[in-house]
Amino acid sequence: MKYLYLLLLASSVSSLFWEDFYRTLASENAERNLIYSPLSVDIMMGMVYMAAGGNTAQEFRNVFKLSENKSQVANSYRKLFAGIRSREKVLFLHIANRIYVNRKYRLVPEFNEVVRRAFKAKAKSIRLDGPVSASLIVNSWILNRTRGMIRNIVSPSDLNPDTSAFLVNAIYMKGQWVFDFQADQTHEADFQVSPDKIIQVKMMTLSASLFSADLEDLDAKVIELPYRNSTLSMRIFLPNRVDGLRKLEENIGLLKPNLQKNSVNVKLPKFKIESSVQLKGILEKLGIRDVFKPTADLKGLVLESGAKIDRIVQKAFLKVDERGAKASAATGVLIRPKKSIDNMKLPPMEFIADHPFSYVIHDHDVIYFRGHIVEPHW
Ligand SMILES: *[C@@H]1O[C@H](CO)[C@@H](O)[C@H](O)[C@H]1NC(C)=O
Ligand SMILES: *[C@@H]1O[C@H](CO)[C@@H](O)[C@H](O)[C@H]1NC(C)=O
Ligand SMILES: *[C@@H]1O[C@H](CO)[C@@H](O)[C@H](O)[C@H]1NC(C)=O
Repeated sequence: MKYLYLLLLASSVSSLFWEDFYRTLASENAERNLIYSPLSVDIMMGMVYMAAGGNTAQEFRNVFKLSENKSQVANSYRKLFAGIRSREKVLFLHIANRIYVNRKYRLVPEFNEVVRRAFKAKAKSIRLDGPVSASLIVNSWILNRTRGMIRNIVSPSDLNPDTSAFLVNAIYMKGQWVFDFQADQTHEADFQVSPDKIIQVKMMTLSASLFSADLEDLDAKVIELPYRNSTLSMRIFLPNRVDGLRKLEENIGLLKPNLQKNSVNVKLPKFKIESSVQLKGILEKLGIRDVFKPTADLKGLVLESGAKIDRIVQKAFLKVDERGAKASAATGVLIRPKKSIDNMKLPPMEFIADHPFSYVIHDHDVIYFRGHIVEPHW
């Protein structure tokens, strides 16, 4: 899946890193719905690298294959943001990133100049002697920056006076499908969560000509649902077996699916997903360790030594319904493929997502979101 590598890291990091990352996350969250944003993890890591020196920075260079020249790295993130803006004609994506630093440390003034321009983020001093008021400050900032969509990214128990610094990232997107699902055909249907558990979901229906493929090697199918006014699309990987998700996600990275346009009859449950992931443990497993230790070198961020990153929290929100992710009330022109366009000989593919599936929201070179749905909630 070469074109699914991240832009910044596209030229540099092996896809192995992001595959390992997802595999770890997916297996830790095997029993529940999952959403995370590789794009945002990438941006946060780039931001921390700007502050890092010594062995701490060396680990980032090893794992993410970043250049030693930090202004070059900052430039590539500036380009990443510019690219995202120019590709999305309709405002689409809300990302909020911040590094909070315990007030007992003094921030290096130049740090914010660099990250504000290149990462659209900054470091902020915070009093941590009162965890309740500190969490209120963080949560209301995130709420504001995500226009009320993402709440309670941290709880008071996440913070304490000994915390030296933590990162928060919230991301949600709002889009509409090119091919709307037929709202009047959405109906209650069974969804097989596991071989012995069935729930009721609101099942949506669509018949359209979509990029799709039968993935025989993986015992699965894939379709691609494009978003309107953007280059983004959502790929849905559906195992043929009710309990096939785990095996599929273990092997999906090896796959280079060759998608062809074909008529597809889709059934997909409406779902909303909001989940919060703690990234420190996974990053440690994959080789980023020093930055979390008291010996961390963050001299680009704080004037004193002894500061480390204690937590990295990401919370993402996505809603999938007949009109797309987070439908707005605006009316648009419906574009439906005419039957006559599908002059293919193949019979339509039946894509019935009535059991757990995996998804990726991406464009040519950036993965915005990735995750799986085990039990759709609406
Ligand atoms: C670092 O990169 C910048 C911009 O890409 C360049 O102007 C500068 O000369 C480079 N510095 C070093 C030490 O290579
Ligand atoms: C977010 O905060 C700014 C000022 O900091 C304010 O003008 C704006 O109305 C707030 N937005 C929301 C959705 O609360
Ligand atoms: C979005 O796309 C639709 C057709 O898909 C078009 O009619 C509309 O003008 C586009 N809107 C913008 C803001 O580009």
